[in-house]
Amino acid sequence: MHAVLALETSCDESAAAVLRRHGDGRIDVLASRIASQVEEHARWGGVVPEIASRRHVEALPGLVEAVVDEAGVALGQLDAIAATITPGLAGALMVASVTGRTLAALHQRPFLGVHHLEGHLASVMLGDAPPQAPYLVLLVSGGHTELILVAYDGGMTRLGRSHDDAAGEAFDKVARLLGLGYPGGPAIQAVAETGDATRFRLPKGRISLPGGGFHPYDFSFSGLKTAMLRTVETLRQNPDPLPLADLAASFEQVVADVLVQRSLRCAEDHGVQQLVMVGGVAANRRLRQSMLEQGKQRGITVSIAPLAFCTDNAAMIGAAALLRLGQNTECTSLESGVAARWPLDQANALYTPDPPF
Ligand code: KG4
Ligand code: ZN
Repeated sequence: MHAVLALETSCDESAAAVLRRHGDGRIDVLASRIASQVEEHARWGGVVPEIASRRHVEALPGLVEAVVDEAGVALGQLDAIAATITPGLAGALMVASVTGRTLAALHQRPFLGVHHLEGHLASVMLGDAPPQAPYLVLLVSGGHTELILVAYDGGMTRLGRSHDDAAGEAFDKVARLLGLGYPGGPAIQAVAETGDATRFRLPKGRISLPGGGFHPYDFSFSGLKTAMLRTVETLRQNPDPLPLADLAASFEQVVADVLVQRSLRCAEDHGVQQLVMVGGVAANRRLRQSMLEQGKQRGITVSIAPLAFCTDNAAMIGAAALLRLGQNTECTSLESGVAARWPLDQANALYTPDPPF
């Protein structure tokens, strides 16, 4: 049995969690807390890095104390202390990284510097029916839209990606266009609930292949964003209020359709029977429902991260750390820094005594 404390401050949520992994692989979240800064950043229409770092410094110590207390563990008895060290806002990442390394040194515990996207991928293990490799993952967050094949041995291959905006970014930009505030995903979902999703015809953003035809699994959301802008400009020429619900529902529907169709097609083409969906946009109700329904129709088992662990949280970072501990990975050097970017397929390099950054 392994237990870890995990910290996450890569963007605008400060989070801490304590988790335990049983011998049979089951993972329990003993305590998980998030202090969101969303309201403060909403004033500026997006995340202000300097504000984010300062708020993390203020919030994280209290969160650590609260989760350790709630879980009833002693820091000195943990198997490791984990923190996200890449990718994200450098100043923000620094807060969890320094806190995690300090606690690890103080209590003489191993430190694991976790890749944020490895955390999102591990979030599905916190659900009732964790998948078993091989499976295809649709990772849809604020910064990433990717299809990743996870092989039997855990090896990862990226099979699809967005060529411009990530799906979450498209939600955020379109929400701003519609005057719905930040973050855009939950705002659009709320307004779309009563809308007619078939009212506006919007483009599905395809990526052309050099030899003709289209890339079957890649995405583009910038054309959709422009189409939304044009539609809104045309509607504004008459004095009626904007049909916000119909606009939001039509947008949400086309994003869900594109993600569902290309993901299931990719799974089928690669002979994979399981599809996993993780990341902030995986919290979207219409997308969850559509992926589950269509997966069922096509004989593909769909596992989605629990709602509470789709958007950024520390439990998913703890889950990734526990999976690494289970594989006897080496720990991360206390000399390790943080990196704004680092490729997911080179995440192994983080768990070495010789840090890559
Ligand atoms: O995974 P996440 O919390 O942070 C990143 O690592 O990027 O994802 C945040 C993104 C934001 O773009 C937000 O608008 C989107 O996830 N999001 C949603 C929903 N909740 C969050 N998008 C659609 N529907 C939602 N319910
Ligand atoms: Zn994230």
